[in-house]
Amino acid sequence: MGLISTTVLRKVAIATIDNPPVNALGAAVRQGLAAAIAQANADAGVAAIVIASAGKAFIAGADISEFGEPPVAPSLPDLLDAIEASAKPVVAAIQGVALGGGLEVALACHGRVALPGAKLGLPEIKLGLIPGAGGTQRLPRLIRAAKAFPMMLSGEPVSAGQALDDGLLDEVVPSDVVAAAARLAEALAAEGRRPMTSATNGTLTEADREAFEALAKDALRKADGMPNVAALVEAVRAVFTMSYAEGQAVERKLFLSLVTDERSKALRHVFFAEREVAKVRGIGPEVKPREIASAAVIGAGTMGGGIAMCFANAGIPVTLIETAQAALDNGVNRISATYDISVQRGSLTLEAKAHRMTLIRPALGIAAAAGADVVIEAAFEEMGVKQQIFGELSKIAKPGAILASNTSYLDIPTIAAATTRQQDVLGMHFFSPANVMKLLEVVRPQGVADDAVATAVTLGRKLGKVPVVVGNGFGFVGNRMLEQRTRAAERLLVAGALPHEVDAALVGFGFKMGPFAMADLAGNDVGWRSRKARGLKAPVADAICEAGWFGQKTGRGYYIYPQGARAGQRCPEVEALIARIAIENGVTRRSFTQEEILARLLDPMVNEGARILEAAIAARPGDIDIVWINGYNWPAWRGGPMFWADSVGLDVIAKRLQAQAAEIGDKALEPAPLLKRLAAEGNRFASLTSRG
Ligand code: 3HC
Repeated sequence: MGLISTTVLRKVAIATIDNPPVNALGAAVRQGLAAAIAQANADAGVAAIVIASAGKAFIAGADISEFGEPPVAPSLPDLLDAIEASAKPVVAAIQGVALGGGLEVALACHGRVALPGAKLGLPEIKLGLIPGAGGTQRLPRLIRAAKAFPMMLSGEPVSAGQALDDGLLDEVVPSDVVAAAARLAEALAAEGRRPMTSATNGTLTEADREAFEALAKDALRKADGMPNVAALVEAVRAVFTMSYAEGQAVERKLFLSLVTDERSKALRHVFFAEREVAKVRGIGPEVKPREIASAAVIGAGTMGGGIAMCFANAGIPVTLIETAQAALDNGVNRISATYDISVQRGSLTLEAKAHRMTLIRPALGIAAAAGADVVIEAAFEEMGVKQQIFGELSKIAKPGAILASNTSYLDIPTIAAATTRQQDVLGMHFFSPANVMKLLEVVRPQGVADDAVATAVTLGRKLGKVPVVVGNGFGFVGNRMLEQRTRAAERLLVAGALPHEVDAALVGFGFKMGPFAMADLAGNDVGWRSRKARGLKAPVADAICEAGWFGQKTGRGYYIYPQGARAGQRCPEVEALIARIAIENGVTRRSFTQEEILARLLDPMVNEGARILEAAIAARPGDIDIVWINGYNWPAWRGGPMFWADSVGLDVIAKRLQAQAAEIGDKALEPAPLLKRLAAEGNRFASLTSRG
């Protein structure tokens, strides 16, 4: 049984694609469709053709995993030209999504009918690409460039209703889309009419061109260096200046060059890593998550308040618990003020704010958590405090309630040991600001029940987060690697770089902020307290805190912030202090290039990532990438730290680490065994996962 099955009903050949899970247009599907169209054209008993699909999607697009592989005929553009050139009219019967190449199939057809729930879009831009099978040429001709260009630029799909209004669909029918498509196909055949989207340049006017050029100018201004935006503009512009065939050749050339672009490779890696991360070892569909209808958050500080907002935003009632009225009032006021900013920006209505505030129920005392299906503790980061809270929760929480700690570093089993229900205790580590950042580390200690983990993951998704299940261990994944970067940044200062040079290297790489601007924003005292508690020293960072320069909140930190400015200025006193510390430590400072700074900041993180994989704290290198993209603003088009390391070459990174370890005399910088092994084999981190 092939991936395309054809039946003939009342002289209409119905070619149904059945390539689970999403009917991607892999080589076998393209070959099957080409054969079905040719066969129907050769069959005297067939007057018209319908392309339909089995399963939940019409077609989700080209098969992304084939990109970069040797091409297999027919190419998608060739197949679509054959569909459009079919002597017998072809109609698309669309249910579910028609995305990318999937919508391009529909555009090459002579008619399009869809169910009301269908979604139609060209999301290639999100993969660092542009449509590559005629989409940039056919869509502007069909619905005008001023409508088509924004659709391709955002990559967001439109609803069937919108598509009907725009002229992208001929009909929307409530049910039996295949029968409706067959009727349209029969009618087109009877009329002898084959409306050709590619040949009809006549609808394009000077006004369309002007409207497009205005949109293009704006898009280029905001492109942020992404080469596919300029490529999209160039391809769509061809609609006004060239024939369809010439324009399609332009599109194809641009598409093929983007497929080999590093940014697109990174974004495609992220696409698959996002889907892999959802697969949790040992937890299949047979493990059913527990029901979560209500929540409690312990601690109304910045984190607790942000977490409570996540629940309210998802429509789940949440009790916000504090020990003292003043702290509770402060927390509630902070939440209200944060919502007010959204109201002022117009992204939230006053009514919606009011509704969310009613879902947040302030309460004093832990007993108020008794009725909750999930309790998230976001109290002070100290083991004694956590153990006391969990000891009490063990007594009062509802049987089967998930008991989660939002701890950033502490040992979950030690927290769980304060309870008599280890099977329900895990970590749910949110990232600041919790109502904004997408990452949720779900920490899975030994002894926790699988269905508790499944519940935390399902809940995380409901809260709009990207849950990543990680093992228990100091700092889990994200903060454990961040600590390496923080240490590297401090080392760089002593060795000769200045704060603004270190920050510029990371901003140049694509981060929104460098480590020192970030530390000044978060408050330098936070790290100082944690170092003191662990008996650690960082000469520059410690001296800055001893001087009372905690960052923006004190008007100065690594930088000076005159009159509450948010962008810091270089501080001569800090620079002198760094020079003095170097002398005290017997270091002769030297200058560093931006590339050297970058390597020194990122290589130790990659090394720690390798150790995290060795210890199975992260299941896959891609999971680490997803953590950094969603929790620490690592630019998605750089693919995450482990993907970046693969693209640099693990042998290069291992050699650089070895050299640094020798220079500084720090064994901790020596390449981790896993990194060493992969480097010696000439292998990549990606080789550790099934997709290679
Ligand atoms: N190619 C290859 N695999 C794909 C795919 C594609 N276009 N789209 C989805 N898949 C795979 C996923 O990797 C996943 O595989 P797995 O089960 O092995 O992990 C499986 O299909 C299911 O995907 P999701 O988990 O994402 O399922 P959802 O139901 O949540 O979402 C979807 C379905 C909306 C179709 C979503 O998968 C999606 O957005 N897909 C990508 C759409 C896209 O970007 N299309 C454009 C491709 S580029 C193109 O067409 C170029 C052309 O112009 C030449």
